Amino acid sequence: MSSYKIIDHEYDVIVLGAGGSGLRAAVGLSEAGLKTACISKVFPTRSHTSAAQGGISASLGNMGEDDWRWHMYDTVKGADWLGDQDSIEYLCKEAPAAVIELEKYGVPFSRTDDGKIYQRPFGGMTKNYGNGIVQRTCAAADRTGHAILHTLYGQALKHNTEFFIEYFALDLLMKDGECKGLIAWNLNDGTIHRFRAHSTIIATGGYGKAYYSATSAHTCTGDGNAMVLRAGLPLQDMEFVQFHPTGIYGHGTLISEGVRGEGGYLVNSKGERFMERYAPKAKDLASRDVVSRSMSIEINEGRGVGKEQDHVHLHLSHLDKSIIESRLPGITEAARLFANVDVTKEPIPVVPTVHYNMGGIPTNYKAEVLTGNDSETVPGLMAIGEAACVSVHGANRLGSNSLIDLVVFGRAAARRAAELVKPGTPHEDIGETETEKCLERFDKLRNSNGENSTAELRLSMQKTMQSKCAVFRTEKTLKEGVDDIRKAYDGMESISVKDRSLVFNTDLVETLEFDNLIRQAITTVDSAYNRQESRGAHAREDFPKRDDEKFMQHTIAWCNGKDSKIGYRPVTKTTLTNEVQYFPPQERVY
Ligand code: FUM
Repeated sequence: MSSYKIIDHEYDVIVLGAGGSGLRAAVGLSEAGLKTACISKVFPTRSHTSAAQGGISASLGNMGEDDWRWHMYDTVKGADWLGDQDSIEYLCKEAPAAVIELEKYGVPFSRTDDGKIYQRPFGGMTKNYGNGIVQRTCAAADRTGHAILHTLYGQALKHNTEFFIEYFALDLLMKDGECKGLIAWNLNDGTIHRFRAHSTIIATGGYGKAYYSATSAHTCTGDGNAMVLRAGLPLQDMEFVQFHPTGIYGHGTLISEGVRGEGGYLVNSKGERFMERYAPKAKDLASRDVVSRSMSIEINEGRGVGKEQDHVHLHLSHLDKSIIESRLPGITEAARLFANVDVTKEPIPVVPTVHYNMGGIPTNYKAEVLTGNDSETVPGLMAIGEAACVSVHGANRLGSNSLIDLVVFGRAAARRAAELVKPGTPHEDIGETETEKCLERFDKLRNSNGENSTAELRLSMQKTMQSKCAVFRTEKTLKEGVDDIRKAYDGMESISVKDRSLVFNTDLVETLEFDNLIRQAITTVDSAYNRQESRGAHAREDFPKRDDEKFMQHTIAWCNGKDSKIGYRPVTKTTLTNEVQYFPPQERVY
């Protein structure tokens, strides 16, 4: 029996994570009268959604004709045909209502002269099925995520969601294949908490910090994904890691695609606008996988800029100053702070930087987690946002489809949970076994007394991922990655945590986060090694073509510590159009 005192809580539903998807779900759950807890390791408005800049996609048609079917076409194509088409249809159809709802909640969107929500062009967003560029990305200057996050937190408080802030979730409580809640550690006073719930919604975001250079916050360690792996469930399509074309060189800080949407362009050391060669139609607004690969080719072939010729330039000084001031204030400040660049006079040095995980916890479009066996679901468990693989982004996400994913599926999860859970239903006894197992791992790491510092192991993992599982991949680099990543894992046998306390023990937090990251790194590199084709963000130099016959399938990866098991499941190619609408039309708010 563990010596940790446990504080018990009972809720109808718990949401793990307080970013855009978690908060949107929490608002809907609380509105539906379900007793809801939202548990987060950071203060909600510090969640990584606040870093989303350029905007949120929806075919509102404020800046010219648009149609959800065009949005769907772009998303299916952008995903390189690995997205589930029922989920994509659901996303694109629901997007306009979800954005109007945000507007009504109070999101301070930028406006057109006639007062409508301003929409900018973004990569891969087209009109009439690929015939020209459409302005579909709704923006609050270049701080759209920040605006949405703050508004949703206000709404959640208004609807009496109960928050558990600075609680680090340790593991899920599973019983006979069902999820019954989770265990978390309160960083503030060191107590251990057991949250029982009829539905647990994971909204913990991505795991960008498995890489050395990423636009992600330090908190992006995919904690929910790792909890799912430890519960014996699989992750899906982990090999698809998106490199954003424009991270600030040397820093990784995001420079929004909105810059290119407003007319900015990329230039190599010869002063060429090289995207004209790679994507003559879409140019700098081609989808991210295309732009990142083109930049990497320019750099690899010696046309990069700077002393090391290892990055390119993003020009925007030709733009009207009033556009820069009103629509791009955030990146203006970031460029000054992190690159010492005045964007009205000089270009920004940029390089492809890890930005987004298309892979994650497999779910259906109602946000229910899948076991990996056909469409079988895991009772009591849901996942949303970047933690989930629903899968609307398939092999490559279009810019601004992430924020809309958060709110559409956050909303869907709340609605589904409200169908499945009756408020006040009593909780059955689940015994102590799962709690003990969880605390054993916690206690072992807390008292570990080896020779390897967490920081060293993390660096070795990050460098391995950055060099062996990068924009371009080969059998050789991936095999080295498969082997090297396990050396970082083995290092945990002799890890060292110097601080034994339970109150704000950041040494232990980082060690738990490393334990979470390394499992996801293993599934990522193993999944990439096994996928012998090129698709979306997964570019194999040794298999340069897409192989639909063999690989138009989702990778499913289980990982039990250092061993992984890879399987595949079919992509959903049927739409919802002929099904009874999941939500009746009268519920639409626009
Ligand atoms: O470039 C950006 O503003 C990022 C947007 C996104 O990832 O959706």
